Amino acid sequence: KANDPVRILKKSTARKLLPAVSAHDNKATRGRSLLLAGSAQYPGAGILAARGALRMGSGYVMLAPQGVTVSSLENPDFLVLDLKKDSWQQQKFDALLCGPGFGVTPFTAEVIRELKARKVERVVLDADALTVCAEQDLFPLPATWIVTPHTGELARCLGVEAEEIAANRYGFVRVAQEMMGCVVLLKGPQTLVAGPNRVYGISTGNAALAKSGTGDVLAGIITALRAQKVPALRAALLGAYVHGATANLWKSRKRDLLSMTASDVVESLPQVLYNLR
Ligand code: APR
Ligand code: MG
Repeated sequence: KANDPVRILKKSTARKLLPAVSAHDNKATRGRSLLLAGSAQYPGAGILAARGALRMGSGYVMLAPQGVTVSSLENPDFLVLDLKKDSWQQQKFDALLCGPGFGVTPFTAEVIRELKARKVERVVLDADALTVCAEQDLFPLPATWIVTPHTGELARCLGVEAEEIAANRYGFVRVAQEMMGCVVLLKGPQTLVAGPNRVYGISTGNAALAKSGTGDVLAGIITALRAQKVPALRAALLGAYVHGATANLWKSRKRDLLSMTASDVVESLPQVLYNLR
């Protein structure tokens, strides 16, 4: 509809946003992603984000969980940091993700404060990082950052009931964008992405994604795009598009929507990206 305030991201547009591959690429030009994700309670969240980032093309992925390490031997595709010994500030990175399964702790708050103070350009905040921002009053955030709340997380950030948001997702994603100052990706059936001037709707995705861990994969995908220097709004749009497209591919392959897992999202990405190009 001409007066529809939500613009649906077209496949032809998404295609143009996909990073180019050149014969001269090397792992540094593909971008370094530093993921502050996972904890003793939720180590899997960090691993899933790391796998999503790798499949989205990040040349280096470094995972730094809080209060625990994960096995490098079992996860040879990415580097693992031990925050007790290795400080995250000393790592070279192009984009940083903070939040999935990371824990709502004073350290999480310290990290976000420091990223803000140092004006780090490419940051993605999800899950626990958003709870910390709400509790510690850390909004607004730099315009080049991306937040990826689900309905409950956005409700906490705005201090409203989740039911209110569910009833007016478009209105609240705009309110959130103004309050937070960054790109806001509101997850759910029909994911919305709000930039300063416009709200976009993501047409891909289905209920196969209603399984824990799929959001962590999305956060990793978007971080990898930022590490490859895709601008914030475009990274959020393309990330949500290809993430949703894994569920459409799953369905078209005649696999039941009950059965898809977060790992299946990761493993479907190569085909989704190939089909998009
Ligand atoms: N239709 C389309 N997409 C959906 C649907 C649906 N019915 N349900 C979920 N999704 C998509 C969302 O758009 C989002 O991309 O699946 C992803 C789910 O992400 P999250 O809600 O962040 O879930 P995740 O973090 O993977 O796992 C749940 O979050 O709130 C915490 O404690 C909770 O551990 C739990 C975790
Ligand atoms: Mg989540």
